Amino acid sequence: MLKYNLKMVMEVDLPPLPQTLIDGILAWHDSKKALLDNIGAAGVGYPWIASHIRDNVSIDDPVNLENTIPGSPWNSEFVKLFPEAIPFFDSLPLTNIERIVLIESTKLVPPHVDRSKTHCPNNSLEPASYRMHLRKAVKSNGFYMQPRPMKEWGNHRAIIMGSPGYEHMTESLPARSWKIDPGKWWLLDNFCTQHGSDWKEGDDKVIVSVQGQIDPVRHKELLDRSAHMKCIKHEALVTAENGSPEQLAAFIKIVNAIPDDTYESSFKPTYGSLFQ
Ligand SMILES: [Fe+2]
Repeated sequence: MLKYNLKMVMEVDLPPLPQTLIDGILAWHDSKKALLDNIGAAGVGYPWIASHIRDNVSIDDPVNLENTIPGSPWNSEFVKLFPEAIPFFDSLPLTNIERIVLIESTKLVPPHVDRSKTHCPNNSLEPASYRMHLRKAVKSNGFYMQPRPMKEWGNHRAIIMGSPGYEHMTESLPARSWKIDPGKWWLLDNFCTQHGSDWKEGDDKVIVSVQGQIDPVRHKELLDRSAHMKCIKHEALVTAENGSPEQLAAFIKIVNAIPDDTYESSFKPTYGSLFQ
């Protein structure tokens, strides 16, 4: 079982994109980017402009590619311009890809839990959302995570002070910023973590978000292989690991007892505006 991992975010051992390829993709993104308009973006105040590499909507000239991970069509212009980029996306342990989107923040992104969590209802596979920075924030701290209290683990709703239904939450959650070199794949947890983004004038951070179905075996192999790499653990795991072996064992038992379907069972469409 991996649920006790409770890594809010972690780098993974996959080949990084070379800088020349990153530069080319960013130039393409800057020529294509437009307001991201979907239910998730609406719920957090439309804080992104985006370009789309794979999607079943939002692509003008879609093309299906054989010998890549199945799923939504690719943007044909992207495929023609950057054929060398395809293997980097195909290296992910996914059985299907619904979206590959380049997301650029244009203002503060309030904390939220991603709708892409629906691709990974099995909590024991977290962290399971594949990401990559292409351009870092230069004026602010950029992307951040917040550790959620245990009673909220697996709940898709973000804890935002003053939001309807959150009056019971009186503490404010500490934000931990995530710094990683552009081009490196990393994983985000949507089980024990919520996330958002700081922003200041002059920031044009771009993150690749890949949404698709996880291959449990290959994903867990990658988690194991990446155990030594950079990560930020949930404070509850740090506390447990600093305790006695008996305390850690008791903690693992409690975490693994959380049902795998907490996300699905907590889904309330009326709160749908709070996730992306
Ligand atoms: Fe998000």
